[in-house]
Amino acid sequence: MVPPGYDPTGRQKACGMAVTKEQVLACLQGINSPEGIPLPDTGTLSDVVATDGKVFFSISVDAAQVKAWEAVRERAEKAVRALPDVQSALVALTAERKARTPPGPTPPGARPAPRGDSVQGVPGVEAIIAVASGKGGVGKSTTAVNLALGLASLGLRVGILDADIYGPSLPKLLAIKERPQTLGGTRLKPITRYGLTVMSIGFLIDEETPMIWRGPMVISALTQMLREVEWGTLDVMVVDMPPGTGDAQLTMAQQVPLKGAVIVSTPQDLALIDARRGIAMFKRVNVPVLGVIENMSYFLCPHCGTRSDIFSHGGARHEAERLGVPFLGEVPLHMTIREKSDAGLPVVATEPDGPHAKIYRDIAARVRDQLKGGAGRAAPKIVIE
Ligand SMILES: Nc1ncnc2c1ncn2[C@@H]1O[C@H](COP(=O)(O)OP(=O)(O)O)[C@@H](O)[C@H]1O
Ligand SMILES: [Mg+2]
Repeated sequence: MVPPGYDPTGRQKACGMAVTKEQVLACLQGINSPEGIPLPDTGTLSDVVATDGKVFFSISVDAAQVKAWEAVRERAEKAVRALPDVQSALVALTAERKARTPPGPTPPGARPAPRGDSVQGVPGVEAIIAVASGKGGVGKSTTAVNLALGLASLGLRVGILDADIYGPSLPKLLAIKERPQTLGGTRLKPITRYGLTVMSIGFLIDEETPMIWRGPMVISALTQMLREVEWGTLDVMVVDMPPGTGDAQLTMAQQVPLKGAVIVSTPQDLALIDARRGIAMFKRVNVPVLGVIENMSYFLCPHCGTRSDIFSHGGARHEAERLGVPFLGEVPLHMTIREKSDAGLPVVATEPDGPHAKIYRDIAARVRDQLKGGAGRAAPKIVIE
């Protein structure tokens, strides 16, 4: 029997010439849920975005059912890609966050093994480094952007990939409103801003969508952003990682061919405990830790310039020393950094002669030196309690 939506030769039926949302939905009628219900009737679909031959939508299911749905996601993506006039299709599977439900146990065998040498590099990209934090809100993205700009100011060709699926921030931090164009069918052309080559998962998903993306699901999106984007020739690609040290982060750390990781922490004890977990996570997947940055290290009053160590400044330096990883520098908590960052005018690019830009450039120089020096060849001493 010929399944709905397919012709007798097994090929997906064409749903019309110009790709519209309706046509994508009509095609998806031929894809069934694990319970045998046509996908558009399951209530799991997000809005379908279909512009200029690029199609994007997500399927949101209960976290307990994601395994059964992965095959549906794949079939849906393949079917949409096979439509005439579709240049690229990205279908994301998301698990809805349930209030106060702790994350379920890791399915047997799902925990990734330590990274071997099998992770392929990205052609044309010399070094990929992760900017990570044990928890969100510590200024990871602000640091990633200004670090990338600092590296560029040292004469390096720099790209930045926003892989923070929980809160993509590059569209905001770099004031990017346009969407990437496709090149020759399937490859995406990144955006260029302040001399950086930029790609964000935020270009592909709706800012407002509340969700948890689980490791195995995000890999296809991450792989696409690494390998199907025309990055060109880069000395360094900075990856703004999702915060935390769960399976999603671990899987990403394992899948991306990282030369090293930079850990951002605030000085408080709680943040440092999370930072320590981050360091341990990269160690587990054999990614060298290039160093720790203390963000919001001390408060600089924008009016009088008085400095106060409101979060017991210096915690990250001590922690880095204790763990035997390099300490890369301290960034103050300063109104200018916040205002500029949130307005899409990062300080390193817009106030290059100011004191904050210098701090980030110094940190960038240390990161560059770590990369040059083959950081991590001698594995850092890790003390985990
Ligand atoms: N050094 C800093 N001084 C002042 N504000 C900062 C600093 N670093 C980050 N911020 C602000 O803190 C908030 C969270 O920063 P963000 O980079 O988005 O964090 P994350 O990526 O870790 O969630 C933003 O409003 C940002 O502008
Ligand atoms: Mg962020």
